[in-house]
Amino acid sequence: MNHLKQKKLTYGYEFFGVGTHLELQRKMARMSSVVSRTPGLLNLWRGLGIEWGSEFSLDEVAGIVHEYGMAVVLFLSENEVADIASHADQNGLVCHPYALLESHEDTEAICAKIAQERTLPTGWREILLDKDSSPEWIAAFQKLSDEQGVAPSPGCLLRGLVCNAVSLMYIDEQDRPASVVFVGDRHHASGPYAGHFFAGGAAVGPKYRGLGFGVSIFARAMHYAYQSFEVKNIHAAVKIENLPSTRMCRRAGLTDQSRHSVILFDQDKFGGEFTR
Ligand SMILES: CC(C)(COP(=O)(O)OP(=O)(O)OC[C@H]1O[C@@H](n2cnc3c(N)ncnc32)[C@H](O)[C@@H]1OP(=O)(O)O)[C@@H](O)C(=O)NCCC(=O)NCCS
Repeated sequence: MNHLKQKKLTYGYEFFGVGTHLELQRKMARMSSVVSRTPGLLNLWRGLGIEWGSEFSLDEVAGIVHEYGMAVVLFLSENEVADIASHADQNGLVCHPYALLESHEDTEAICAKIAQERTLPTGWREILLDKDSSPEWIAAFQKLSDEQGVAPSPGCLLRGLVCNAVSLMYIDEQDRPASVVFVGDRHHASGPYAGHFFAGGAAVGPKYRGLGFGVSIFARAMHYAYQSFEVKNIHAAVKIENLPSTRMCRRAGLTDQSRHSVILFDQDKFGGEFTR
């Protein structure tokens, strides 16, 4: 999180979405220094995260969700998911459980192999977003995420300005975004989960689904993260019923290690779903 001190953030078009999503992203940016000083909290930049096992009780978690409209609670056992789900229900909150699929000793090699073997079709190219990426590329990335039901992230996160991150996009031969993914280290640099990268927000345009581009971009982005940063662990959060996502993660070398996360949200603010 030292990046916060070193780099100037740009706002405005960098935020994306409508209504409560937009409000929440702005709130997250305003409170970034508070979050970075609070052990157990993490700034997902499209919402607030809580590392389970930190000092927060179930009532405090529910209070946070009522205040912010949502929270992601990470690194839970199956029993803890059941406790949180029942507590959320009693408090009028919606609870969506996710399985965490995580890296292991072979993941780095699996990703490197896929990155090497799966070349892009003729005329396609890849774009890695960074601080100098044009607003148009940021917007194109966010638009594809949004259209495929993945909660879009603000530009400061995608550009790698607020944490170590890889935001990768495939562009087809007609210069249209075909696929996107984000891999980033959102946890406190001095906390127990430092170096635990999240891989997610994977989206492939409907025209290109089922052709291996999901596995390709997901593994390639993790490969770049392994090459560029000190990666201790990579986790993805998948809904059990999202079979393409689950299979993509497994194929790219992530496995079930019996840890889970939940997204808790206030339905009045976010409708039926926060993200896929
Ligand atoms: C998840 C997603 C990115 C996968 O991309 P994709 O290019 O279609 O997937 P791939 O072709 O690389 O296939 C990945 C795996 O899923 C399987 N798969 C693909 N589509 C499938 C489908 N409709 N039903 C079941 N399995 C499917 C493939 O067979 C492959 O598994 P295998 O290697 O074990 O055979 C894409 O479906 C998508 O954009 N979904 C909407 C957004 C989303 O849910 N994102 C994930 C949240 S992080």
